Amino acid sequence: MVNRAHQKPLDLSSLTIPTHVAIIMDGNGRWAKKRGLPRQAGHRAGAENLRRIINACVEFGIKILTIYAFSTENWGRPEREVRGLMKIFARVLDQEIDDLSAQGVCLHHLGDLTGVEPALQEKVRRAIELTKHNDRLILNVAFNYGGRAEILHAVRAMLADGIKPEQLTESLFSSYLFTAGLPDPDIVVRTSGELRISNFLIWQAAYAEYYPTPAYWPDFDREELYKAIVAFNQRERRFGLVPDEK
Ligand code: IPE
Ligand code: IPE
Ligand code: MG
Repeated sequence: MVNRAHQKPLDLSSLTIPTHVAIIMDGNGRWAKKRGLPRQAGHRAGAENLRRIINACVEFGIKILTIYAFSTENWGRPEREVRGLMKIFARVLDQEIDDLSAQGVCLHHLGDLTGVEPALQEKVRRAIELTKHNDRLILNVAFNYGGRAEILHAVRAMLADGIKPEQLTESLFSSYLFTAGLPDPDIVVRTSGELRISNFLIWQAAYAEYYPTPAYWPDFDREELYKAIVAFNQRERRFGLVPDEK
C-alpha cells in the first residue's frame, strides 16, 4: 500500500497526461559516488526509486511506462557490477511482483532473454504470466535491450516470415518490434544530465519529446515526474507540420 499522507498535493487537472512515458534511468553510479558509497548502493537506491515512480505513474493516470534497465552495451561493465545488477533484478521480481500485480501493473519485457541466467529468465517469464491480465499500467522493462539489436531482430523475423519488400510499411515494421501493439512514447526522460539516446527506442521515439533532467535517477521522485509532465504540456508537438494558426 502507498502511504500518501506526506505527499505534496499536485494539481493535474489542467494537464494533458502523456499516455506513454519512457525513462532512461541514469546516474545511479554518480548518486552513490557523491555519497562515498559503492555503485551497487546506487543501483539499490535506483530500484527503490522505481517503485515510487511506478506508484506515481498509476496516481497520475499514465498508461504505459517504459524503463531502460539494462542495455546490450551494459554487459561490458565490470563483471562484479553486472552480477550485482542481475541480483537486484532477481530480487525486485521476487519481492515486488505480487504488489505490482495487485496495483494493476502488467509487465512486458523489451529485449532478448537469451544469454540471461536461466533462473532470471524464468522469473521474468513468470512475472509476465502473472500480470498479463492487468490493465492499469503497462510496465515495459527494457532489459538486455538495444535499439539497434531490436531492429535487427525485427528484420530477421520479417525475412523468416517471407515478407516481400513491397509489403513492408512503417506500421508492419513496428509490429515486429518488442513494443508491437503499443503506441510510441510521448516523452523520453533522461536523468543525470546526459544528453544522448544511448540506443534506447531509436525507432519508437522518433517524435517523442525529450526531457533531460540533471537529477540522478535515485533522486528523480514524484515531483520531478510531475515537472516533466508540466514541461511536456508546454511543448508544441508539430510532427513536421506547421504550427496551428491562432
Ligand atoms: C544507470 O546508472 C543504471 C544502469 C545503466 C544499469 P549508471 O550505472 O549508468 O550510473 P552512472 O551513469 O554511472 O552515474
Ligand atoms: C543507459 O545508460 C542505459 C540504462 C540506463 C540502462 P548508460 O549509463 O549505460 O549510458 P551511457 O554509457 O552513459 O551512454
Ligand atoms: Mg550511466
